[in-house]
Amino acid sequence: MISALPPAMLQSRGRYLLLFLGVQLVVMALLYREGYRKRVAYFLGIFYKGGTPGGLVTPHNASLSGDVYANLSLIARPPLPPEELPYCPETSPFLAGPIRVTFPPGLTLEDILRKNPYVTKGGRYLPPDCDATHKTAVIIPHRNREQHLKYLLYYLHPFLQRQQLSYGIYIIHQAENYTFNRAKLLNVGFKEAMKDDDWDCMFFHDVDLIPEDDRNLYICDRFPKHAAVAMDKFGYKLPYKTYFGGVSALSPEQYMKMNGFPNSYWGWGGEDDDIAVRVALSGMLISRPSIQHGRYRMIKHGHDKGNEQNPKRFNLLAKTRRTWKQDGMNTLEYQLLAKELHPLYTNITVFIGTEKGMRRPT
Ligand SMILES: *[C@@H]1O[C@H](CO)[C@@H](O)[C@H](O)[C@H]1NC(C)=O
Ligand SMILES: *[C@@H]1O[C@H](CO)[C@@H](O)[C@H](O)[C@H]1NC(C)=O
Ligand SMILES: *[C@@H]1O[C@H](CO)[C@@H](O)[C@H](O)[C@H]1NC(C)=O
Ligand SMILES: *[C@@H]1O[C@H](CO)[C@@H](O)[C@H](O)[C@H]1NC(C)=O
Repeated sequence: MISALPPAMLQSRGRYLLLFLGVQLVVMALLYREGYRKRVAYFLGIFYKGGTPGGLVTPHNASLSGDVYANLSLIARPPLPPEELPYCPETSPFLAGPIRVTFPPGLTLEDILRKNPYVTKGGRYLPPDCDATHKTAVIIPHRNREQHLKYLLYYLHPFLQRQQLSYGIYIIHQAENYTFNRAKLLNVGFKEAMKDDDWDCMFFHDVDLIPEDDRNLYICDRFPKHAAVAMDKFGYKLPYKTYFGGVSALSPEQYMKMNGFPNSYWGWGGEDDDIAVRVALSGMLISRPSIQHGRYRMIKHGHDKGNEQNPKRFNLLAKTRRTWKQDGMNTLEYQLLAKELHPLYTNITVFIGTEKGMRRPT
């Protein structure tokens, strides 16, 4: 009896082993097919961590960071009529890499204006020495953050000039004190900026984020771009894989393909994740600059009144798949109250209503 057991056990063990191996093989084959590209990209990503393939990987060195205005004095208008200017080169000669970001007290808009002599009314700029090959509008949702705006303008103007872009800076000011709605303001910014010019790229930019490396080019990619990949507040790392907050860039075609951004997120949070879901639902991927170039410093601030956490954000997010085609650019409603051309930016003031609609609550 005792001697009969082991062979039987062996037999069944052998069968299980075979079955196990078979299943393993099938799973591996499936994984291999599905993940092949991803895995190759992943390994390339390790080898070229945050760099362009072929380039040497240099870690960020803060002590090498320079003054964002350092190279601008070299830019001058040649004695040529505008139509005879050559195209700007593929890589701007004025790029210098890391930028030292500090927040000098007492900075005034007049100081900034003096340092940016080629910026024209409404915060527009054309490189004086070459014909720009990219046209970028920067859209900044805004309310009661004048101090932050000042610092952003101080850094953003020279940053964009170093990249030899044709650009314009738009502030989208939400009128009155009702709950803030970032994504809806961005939709308004897109629509209003496109009335001005045929921008080929829109940068959607939080007012409190300062780019720290001018190789983070403010131009659009083949896919919607998430630019703020390395913020100081997240330890210069991406907080999670689908994160799309802070600064992002879409071409008008990409923007319309995903019906713009949602209008339904009132208060803080959720809308950036909704946008990332829309990118996927409309059949696109997320593109990103390298972790070395996509660095941002956040200006510290307390919580804004009128922008409390949105308790409905998780419910909304769960429904995006069903709602994105009925909530976006095709259902955008607002009242344009003013459009002022300031020396360093265009200020678009809008009433965007409340969660209950466009009627003013009484
Ligand atoms: C950063 O650059 C400075 C100046 O060249 C150098 O002395 C320092 O060792 C560098 N630090 C790192 C971490 O590479
Ligand atoms: C811009 O500045 C960087 C560093 O300060 C320098 O290496 C580079 O040569 C400058 N570019 C021009 C065109 O002078
Ligand atoms: C909005 O709130 C600010 C500060 O709380 C107040 O000074 C201002 O009058 C309010 N504006 C409107 C339109 O209610
Ligand atoms: C934009 O315009 C509105 C309306 O005139 C004004 O209340 C607001 O302060 C302006 N914002 C900026 C940053 O200029």
